[in-house]
Amino acid sequence: MKKFLDLISEEMKQAFEAAGYERELGKVTLSNRPDLCEYQCNGAMAGAKLYKKAPVMIAGEVAEKCKDSKVFSEVTAVPPGFLNLKVKEAVVKEYLTEMSENSKFGLEMPEKPKKIIIDYGGPNVAKPLHVGHLRSAIIGESIKRIARYSGHEVIGDIHLGDWGLQMGLIITELKEREPSLVYFDDAYTGEYPEEPPFTISELEEIYPTASGKSKEDSVYKEKAMDATFKLQSGVRGYRALWKHILNVSVADLKKNYKNLNVEFDLWKGESDVHDVIPGMVKYMKDEGYAYISEGALVVDVKEETDTKEIPPCMILKSDGASLYNTTDLATILERMNHLHPDEIIYVVDKRQDLYFEQVFRCARKTKLVKEDTGLKFLGFGTMNGKDGKPFKTREGGVMRLESLINEINEEMYRKITDNREVPEEEARETAKTVALSAIKYGDLSNQASKDYIFDIDKFTSFEGDTGPYILYTIVRIKSILNKYKEQGGTAPEAAALQEACSESEKALMLEITKFNSMMENACEETAPHKVCAYIYDLANAFNHFYHETKILTEEDKNKKEGFIALLVLTRDILETCIDVLGFSAPERM
Ligand code: ARG
Repeated sequence: MKKFLDLISEEMKQAFEAAGYERELGKVTLSNRPDLCEYQCNGAMAGAKLYKKAPVMIAGEVAEKCKDSKVFSEVTAVPPGFLNLKVKEAVVKEYLTEMSENSKFGLEMPEKPKKIIIDYGGPNVAKPLHVGHLRSAIIGESIKRIARYSGHEVIGDIHLGDWGLQMGLIITELKEREPSLVYFDDAYTGEYPEEPPFTISELEEIYPTASGKSKEDSVYKEKAMDATFKLQSGVRGYRALWKHILNVSVADLKKNYKNLNVEFDLWKGESDVHDVIPGMVKYMKDEGYAYISEGALVVDVKEETDTKEIPPCMILKSDGASLYNTTDLATILERMNHLHPDEIIYVVDKRQDLYFEQVFRCARKTKLVKEDTGLKFLGFGTMNGKDGKPFKTREGGVMRLESLINEINEEMYRKITDNREVPEEEARETAKTVALSAIKYGDLSNQASKDYIFDIDKFTSFEGDTGPYILYTIVRIKSILNKYKEQGGTAPEAAALQEACSESEKALMLEITKFNSMMENACEETAPHKVCAYIYDLANAFNHFYHETKILTEEDKNKKEGFIALLVLTRDILETCIDVLGFSAPERM
């Protein structure tokens, strides 16, 4: 379906043409003065120079041509030359009817859908998930869903950090504690046990302990580096132990991400490209891209137009070990070879932007990607506490993701059961659903690149620009629709929609018309905050309409069915939008 603004612009363009002016001047935009008009056209202002004529005269002539317009109910030329517009109720009604009848509310699918890989989540195996990992998961998941809804083929890849020093640290600590484990016996040739020699909680304690020791004790650190090296070069026992760490950790991660309603298509990690690295390195050397500098193998990535120093991209350290870079480049190579994406989007902390600049330049220079393959870094800001510093626990420690979620679940549970009788099980379920909306909406409603303040009181409020407010609105609509059903009403056809009979109804309808241009824009700009801003406006428009309208007691049958059809459409759009944001609404709350 045509976007609503394009549709009404078309009418205005015809009027400009009929008045003897360039048709492109007839572009219509949303009104800057909603108190005066619904839309406006500034074409006469732009035309003034072109035609050497006072803009208000042009505007007047165009308005004259709109006298019998089927689209506009009001076209007023106002000094110095703006055209203030109102759209006919019938046009809005027709548009909404078509939206209701079309799949995805008439959102146009791309002519050439893109294949997009989204690299997000990026947790490090055996390190507990903390709030720093939250944003990547929430934003990445939403971007994935928006792109998918918009008709692209999207693959979400978690890109586990599962191959670095943290693995060597854990292995080292295990060896200190239990040197007799069969994994450390070089002479052992049998099968290794299927049961891991630790639980997830042990693992989560082992890592910080090991990491702490390595910072104080250089011999310990040496050992950890050696263990990492042995693991990467394939020592059997080390590999077997690593598999256990991976399995235990991934099972825990899956549980955590499920609670967040985050789903990955691929659970690949840095380790998966280990065997690809030697071939890639050889290629980079053979083609003359990589050279030895101070013992290390590097690729120059600086460009003449640089205003800041972009250091070379290091491929191998002087001891031959690979780096974070190396695995990212090899992952690009693997993705290109096996998945052939048109674009790869990385949702990572914005402090890694220089790093990704190097990686992308290196990938382009060494032709790991095709010229038209998109590489996009979507850097997000820090989630801060109310004090403006990175979010911490009350005691000042790093906040575990699980604790944060529990805290918000409890807060929501308290609010839901406050002064009300709700069956325990239902209250718990609802609290979880609403808490997730609080966390996700609180995050996504900010532009991703900005830092934001995680304010539990604000985010869990049922009023204002929050997830719970949006859910509350959806639940309100659902409850009206249920009552309607109980009264014997049947689900209305899209054709039941009526012309708006009040200002607030029209405002709601006009808000709905914006859906497809909003979604297209949110997809193009990988901007979930635009979806949030839209549903906030839509929820406000609905609540305004609700407070001014007697819906279920309306006596005119057609009118009542029209209201119900409008409610159905509003609910469906709101639910579609929260689904692409990655949360859902309960039936009641
Ligand atoms: N594991 C990394 C970290 O914690 C994030 C991974 C981001 N993705 C990537 N392809 N480098 O910093």
